[in-house]
Amino acid sequence: MLAGMSRIERLLSRMTLAEKLGQLTMTAAHHATTGPVIAGDSTEAIRSGAIGNLLNLVGADSVHELQRVAVEESRLGIPLLIGFDVLHGHRIQFPIPLGETAVFDPGVWERTAREAAREATADGLALTFAPMLDVSRDPRWGRSAEGPGEDPFVAARLAQAKVRGFQGARLAAADAIAACAKHYCAYGPVTAGRDYASVDISERTLHEVHLPPFEAAVRAGVATIMPAFTDLAGVPMTAHRPLLRGHLRERLGFEGVLISDYNAIAELMRHGIAADLAEAAALALEAGIDIDMMSDAFRRGLPEALRRRRARMADIDAAVRRVLRLKERLGLFADPYRRGARPEPAAVLRRRRRMAREVAARAMVLLQNEADVLPLPPGISRIAVIGPLADAPAEMRGPWSAAAGNEGHVSVLQGLREAFPRARIEHAAGVPLREVEEAGIEAAAALCDGAEVIILCVGEAAGMSGEAASRTQLGLPGSQPRLARAVFERARARGIPVITVLFSGRPLIVPELVEHSAALIAAWFPGSEAGSAIADLLTGRRSPEGRTPLSWPRQAGQIPVFFGQRPSGRPAHPDDGFTSKYLDSPNEPQFPFGHGLTYGRFEHSDLVVNPARVRPTSRLRIRLTVRNTGRRTATDTVFLFARDPLASVARPLLELKGFTKVRLRPGERRRIDMTLAAAELRFHGASLEPVWEPGEVEILAGPCADRRRLQSTKVQLLPSASRK
Ligand code: GLC
Repeated sequence: MLAGMSRIERLLSRMTLAEKLGQLTMTAAHHATTGPVIAGDSTEAIRSGAIGNLLNLVGADSVHELQRVAVEESRLGIPLLIGFDVLHGHRIQFPIPLGETAVFDPGVWERTAREAAREATADGLALTFAPMLDVSRDPRWGRSAEGPGEDPFVAARLAQAKVRGFQGARLAAADAIAACAKHYCAYGPVTAGRDYASVDISERTLHEVHLPPFEAAVRAGVATIMPAFTDLAGVPMTAHRPLLRGHLRERLGFEGVLISDYNAIAELMRHGIAADLAEAAALALEAGIDIDMMSDAFRRGLPEALRRRRARMADIDAAVRRVLRLKERLGLFADPYRRGARPEPAAVLRRRRRMAREVAARAMVLLQNEADVLPLPPGISRIAVIGPLADAPAEMRGPWSAAAGNEGHVSVLQGLREAFPRARIEHAAGVPLREVEEAGIEAAAALCDGAEVIILCVGEAAGMSGEAASRTQLGLPGSQPRLARAVFERARARGIPVITVLFSGRPLIVPELVEHSAALIAAWFPGSEAGSAIADLLTGRRSPEGRTPLSWPRQAGQIPVFFGQRPSGRPAHPDDGFTSKYLDSPNEPQFPFGHGLTYGRFEHSDLVVNPARVRPTSRLRIRLTVRNTGRRTATDTVFLFARDPLASVARPLLELKGFTKVRLRPGERRRIDMTLAAAELRFHGASLEPVWEPGEVEILAGPCADRRRLQSTKVQLLPSASRK
């Protein structure tokens, strides 16, 4: 009997309950702390088979040591699954995910994940808790930094690229790492932008905005999914049977592993839907959770739940099968020491750094550039570099910086010194990053005297975004506003341009920087090669090309501000007071989704869409002329939108349906092509099922989600089946 059974069935038939629950348990080693610390030594538990998975363990030696305990000293020899948060690079950091999204290049998104997978597997890891796919339209929420911005189409494309990049062509390969689409789902719209708070959104928004990125990840073959901490309309995602077992497994056919977030199963008690750990464990198992991260609810609660007949052994066995299947697909049974068998050669690390520098430069968004003050002239001889983020290499990592230590990151100051070796570069932080302390402002401002240009480096500390880092005030922290004012006053008195480099994990509300900076760069947190990348932009070695993936609010009171809003019955009208607008601010964001300048100057014209009459099976071919009328070669990003003005339900003012990039020399003009499956013009009808509705739809293309700057034409959607 045993001979004909698969390895998994053979193991399952021999496992005790404790060993089964061990395979459904993930506890933290101590390389990093990513949640409430729950004490406990894992080695003995691994030896006894009471723990089958770990997180926050990094380093091939440490991983192999514990693998050896599991494989050679435990009764059944089942290898460990070891995961870590490799969000935007492992030891060498790429820009934070929100910044990398600004590149709007799925090839880049995939390549950086591939590089991170290579580096993380060289450290023995087989699972990363990434990509984070939470669409966010609320910069108060610190985790906007980890995500794909405000648009589901972008998030879905990022999901596919990241899953391909992390998992590679073969999950058992030594440099492949299992991806984890998180946090399923609708974590972004937490109440008041406050992390972990409840979520109340419409079924429509759930289907149109928050499910698509995860559906794309499942279609791309993502190995694991992590539910969000939050409750959705009162049902915590960790116990959300309709969306876990129902939508993911039954409707989408997801056969991978569901890993709870850190301690989230036990937190069902705090949510108030479980009286004790046994009930919490039963609810999570019933909903479809396979691995309990850090709450020990499965190990300590499921035996009691079984006794109460609140849990079924069949569900436990099904979960164990999925976990063992994942370990088998990862090749962990075949060779548990495959990952980390050899260190990476120095040449690979150098190449990765070069990529980190390129991607960081491409991620930064040039928000404004008055009188083409950038790029700086090569012969510049005196530069004042001011601000608490000018010489702060460790801050450049941003949140979720994985295994990147404090060392080895290039500061702005270092980058500028290497780029302008003959210039006199003077630096002063002026004020601390967060604290209110103004003693250094006067001396810092005095450095402006005699400078030809001032580089002002301000923004958030890396820890002011990411998890548990929501903010109600979205301006510069501490005394930085006072420093900025002093610098602007000094600079204005002397006619010196100020180039402001803004570091943040979210759009900040900085009207004073917008008003007084000659140039303003959203650098996000650029990663390990920050300073080199910024220097590449300031010198003109590279032209900026980043585009903001989040609408940039003018005031916090506008939040949520995003381009995909529906028109309402009273769309804003300047001559009618009874329309949807504010008394004290325009409706429009400071900078619209997709905004970003380059060192070129791009014009768009002659939009043509064929065929003009389409059925669901048609394929639209969109052609647009792009021309660079500027004096420098640069890369433009063109966005494709649709607008359905009349349908059975109110439709958004703009829906993103594509984006592409084109690099043009000065004076060069090119017809660019985009295609769009007409089926993408379906939408969720009143029943929330996809519908195709005949009628006229507008197709728009251009530089950002400001329809005044878009080319537009119309197509006619014909009835889906030709009527006799
Ligand atoms: C954290 C985060 C999650 C992360 C996990 C493991 O609380 O919510 O994104 O992957 O714990 O570190």
